[in-house]
Parts: sequence; structure tokens; C-alpha cells
Amino acid sequence: MTGFSIDWLDLREAADRCARDDKLLEQARYWLSESFAPGTEKTVVDLGAGTGSTLRAFAHASNTDQQALCWRLLDQDAALLAQARLRHGHLQRLQTYELDLAEISALPLADAQLITASALFDLVSADFVDTLALALQSQQDPPALYAALNYDGTTTWTPAHPLDEVVLDAFNRDQQRDKGFGMALGPEAGSYLERVFSGSGFKVFTANSPWVLDQLDCKLVDALISGIGEAVAQDSTLDTTSLQDWIQFRKAHLFTGTCVVGHTDLLALPDRD
Ligand SMILES: C[S@@+](CC[C@H](N)C(=O)[O-])C[C@H]1O[C@@H](n2cnc3c(N)ncnc32)[C@H](O)[C@@H]1O
Repeated sequence: MTGFSIDWLDLREAADRCARDDKLLEQARYWLSESFAPGTEKTVVDLGAGTGSTLRAFAHASNTDQQALCWRLLDQDAALLAQARLRHGHLQRLQTYELDLAEISALPLADAQLITASALFDLVSADFVDTLALALQSQQDPPALYAALNYDGTTTWTPAHPLDEVVLDAFNRDQQRDKGFGMALGPEAGSYLERVFSGSGFKVFTANSPWVLDQLDCKLVDALISGIGEAVAQDSTLDTTSLQDWIQFRKAHLFTGTCVVGHTDLLALPDRD
């Protein structure tokens, strides 16, 4: 499993926040604030929480009373969780769990009203989604699921380069490599989540949440180009010289070009009718 550095997560957070669909985030917040009897303790479990970007997105999005929520941040990376505690330790009801998400039966999901994740589900397998849906559906009061920023397999650059499509195809192949859960869903994550949760008694809402990047995001785009270059370096459809040419061209246009990376957000609400 490739590690995710604090620097990379920080670099992408502003773009992620702009990209998140406001309506789905508000709907998820509304679910938390309005669907339960007054005084009910509300617990949110964030899968693959990193340094806590979803918690921050909720805090930013509205006047949600963060002190009234219990956030359980789950991640396998102790350094990211330590950073989350450093940033949010003042919240009385912050809990962090260092664990492997692949062990779904051991996850602290009980009593949660909302399960969240961002930039996670393209890493997981179809089996993980199936098992998670079953685990949530089987709870006496099933929680909702808010899954943001699922990469959808599309990336569009300006200006165009003749290798854009070949590089994207190679990148999407790499996205399906095992990231610790079995073969990853990669670009299929959003549509697979929608299908499984719709078939498991949830009302599912989806929205596009693309990164729309330009020269103001040049540091992120620079890191993205390097990351794509590393991910596709071993792909048999690309020779080293052509790939270096593509990388150089892309980096030469950091301040004049644009890049749109497609994602989808999803909210699955338990159907209580
Ligand atoms: C792309 S990062 C997203 C982090 C955070 N949600 C955000 O949006 O900034 C994916 C996160 O999932 C965590 N992760 C990946 N595989 C995991 C596993 N098997 N168990 C627990 N955490 C995992 C990584 O450590 C990382 O923090």
C-alpha cells in the first residue's frame, strides 16, 4: 500500500474542498442534525480519515456544532492520526483508531449515525463495498454513508498533448492495482457504490465533484504530474522517452494550462419508509 504524506493531503485539501458538492455535504449535515430526536448523541465514523479533512469540510460547510458530534477517525497510518489529534485534539469527542479498514467486522461502526470517507473508495475492492453495505444495512438503525471524491477515470488537460489518452489509460490501469483490499475499484468506485447501496435499502444521491485546476493550483498539478509519471512508468504501452516528453510538456504548462480531474460524491441515506 502506498503511503499518503501529510504534505500531499494538505496540498490537495483546498482543491478537494472546492470540488465537494455543496448540496450533498449540506444534505449529509442535515441528516445528522434533523433525523434524530433532540439530545441524541451523534457519531460520525470517518474511514481512511488521514489528518481529518472530512471533519474540516463539515466544520467549514455550516454552523454544525462540532462539539456536539463525536468523530471517530479511522486510519492505518499513525502519523496521519497524530496530525489529526494535533489539529483537532481540542474537540472533546474526537477518537482516533489506528487499524486496517480491510477488517470490516472489527471496525467501530456500532451506534454511528453517519459513515464518511473522502478519496478512499477508489482504493478499495468491490468485496469491501459489498461487505460494508451489508454491515451497515444489518445494523438496527443503519447509518448513512457520505463518500466524497471518488476518482471517475477522467482527466482533461489543456493544451492537449498526443500522449494524454495513452497516459490516462495507463494511469487508470494502475488505479485498479491492489491497494491493500484486493483489486481496487479505481474509476468504477462511484458507480459501484451507487449500485450496491441502491440495492441494499438506501436512497442514493450522487453529484460530480471535479477538481478544476489552473495556475493557482500549480503546486498540486506539479505533484499530480509527478505522481502520474511514477504510476505509469512501468506500463508496457509507454516508453521512457515518450513519458519524459509528456511530463516535461505538462510541467512546462503549469502556469498556462488547465487540468480537470473527474470525481463523484455520493450520499446514501437509509430508507426508513
Ligand atoms: C487518499 S487518502 C485520503 C485521506 C483523507 N480522507 C483526505 O481526504 O484527506 C487515503 C487514506 O486512506 C488510508 N488508508 C488506505 N488504506 C487503508 C487501510 N487498509 N486501512 C486504513 N486506512 C487506510 C490512508 O492511510 C490515507 O489516509
